[in-house]
Amino acid sequence: MDRIVIDGGAPLRGEVQVSGSKNATLPIMTAALLADSPTTLHNVPELRDTHMMADILRALGARVDLAGGVMRVDPSAFNVAEAPYDMVRKMRASIYVLAPMLMRLGKAKVSQPGGCAICPRPIDLHLKGMKALAADVSLDHGYIVVENRAMKGAEVSLTGPNGSSVGATANTVMMAALTPGETIIRGAAHEPEIAELARFLRAMGADVEGEGSSTMRIRGVQALKGCEYSIIPDRIEAGTFFCAAAITEGDVVVRGVEVAHLEAVIDKLSEMGVYVAAEDGAVRVACDGPPRPVSIRTLPFPGFPTDLQAQFMALLSLADGCSTIIETIYQERFIHVPELQRMGAQIRLAGGQAIIEGVKKLAGAPVMASDLRASAALVVACLAAEGLTDVHRVYHIDRGYEAIETKLSGLGANIRRVSTTRKNGNG
Ligand code: EPZ
Repeated sequence: MDRIVIDGGAPLRGEVQVSGSKNATLPIMTAALLADSPTTLHNVPELRDTHMMADILRALGARVDLAGGVMRVDPSAFNVAEAPYDMVRKMRASIYVLAPMLMRLGKAKVSQPGGCAICPRPIDLHLKGMKALAADVSLDHGYIVVENRAMKGAEVSLTGPNGSSVGATANTVMMAALTPGETIIRGAAHEPEIAELARFLRAMGADVEGEGSSTMRIRGVQALKGCEYSIIPDRIEAGTFFCAAAITEGDVVVRGVEVAHLEAVIDKLSEMGVYVAAEDGAVRVACDGPPRPVSIRTLPFPGFPTDLQAQFMALLSLADGCSTIIETIYQERFIHVPELQRMGAQIRLAGGQAIIEGVKKLAGAPVMASDLRASAALVVACLAAEGLTDVHRVYHIDRGYEAIETKLSGLGANIRRVSTTRKNGNG
């Protein structure tokens, strides 16, 4: 398993290009199987997750080629209506294959995704969407088993205990696109990745409207056609680079940013006294001292994104005062706290919130990555820490960040990847 070694303290300077959005690419890849002809996607990030999803679609019979950010998905031989546990457990987003299986093959058998490092990750809203469209849904020995006997459009609310659900909205929209009749989704997720999926489905000939609002309206069509489409930039990668620039007291231009996707994040950085300015399709982030302490509450879009909570906690570890973070989407999403504490961060968890007492410096220490965004937070912290840090299990980072050490070293970070292959050659 690879590890990343960082010798912290260098202020990041220069320009960095954001890659395509992981969380837009994954549902769009599965949506391409709703069509009966090939799709070409541009600006596709080379990530563990996009390669894993490509392998899943290949296992279902589709042909998927990815090179140089261009992905071609040919669904013509798609004919497998089952996604086994060992496939689904690795990546929750694989539940998105339910929709094309159900709508193109008439049935689906997909393992329940199970939990992950950040929380139990329930699927009740996914099931609610399918049942509302009159799919026959049952749970059988850890599998979701669904049949499409006489699905028809309906009205359904997908609001859960923690607000809207990105995944359940995506699955229901994809199913509704080929379900006869009109479907109205109340409490739909507003995330840009859902809006992107809607635009992609329309490009394939779907009748979808209302994306970006709480109510989406979909009228089912007979068939969808493959298309050519370019993926939006990854707002979470962009926000991670904002934190890296600020924590190292650097001056970085992050290119390929959709400012409208990051308004809550940019507002919070400004509140922290960080210089943030939109400059012709890019955002410049500069900081010349410790940030001011703030309070953060994560919320569904357009609120502050849960996927940047850990990275901001790393940044606030060096603020000149006491900050608080309340995590409302995944209440247990504080797995990064112990590793940040090992680097000297003063963080206390009480009553479902994190209280971060800023310190003057963090110290490099061997740390263990645990999930994608927790790992990103450790890298952000290491960039400012004094001394060397080894971040182990970087495969977590590779799930959602394309060539992160190349991009960061391009900004002046002292960072390198060390491949530690075992004697028998396994990585
Ligand atoms: C998507 O996950 C993202 N993943 C997550 O990003 C992101 O954190 C999350 O949305 C919230 O923005 C992808 O897009 C691949 P949800 P998803 O369904 O769809 C509850 C990353 O780091 N819920 O919007 O699985 C759930 O427990 C990943 O890139 C139900 O109660 O998230 C949570 O509290 C991590 N029942 C809330 O809704 C359900 O059936 C939001 O979950 C489904 C979800």
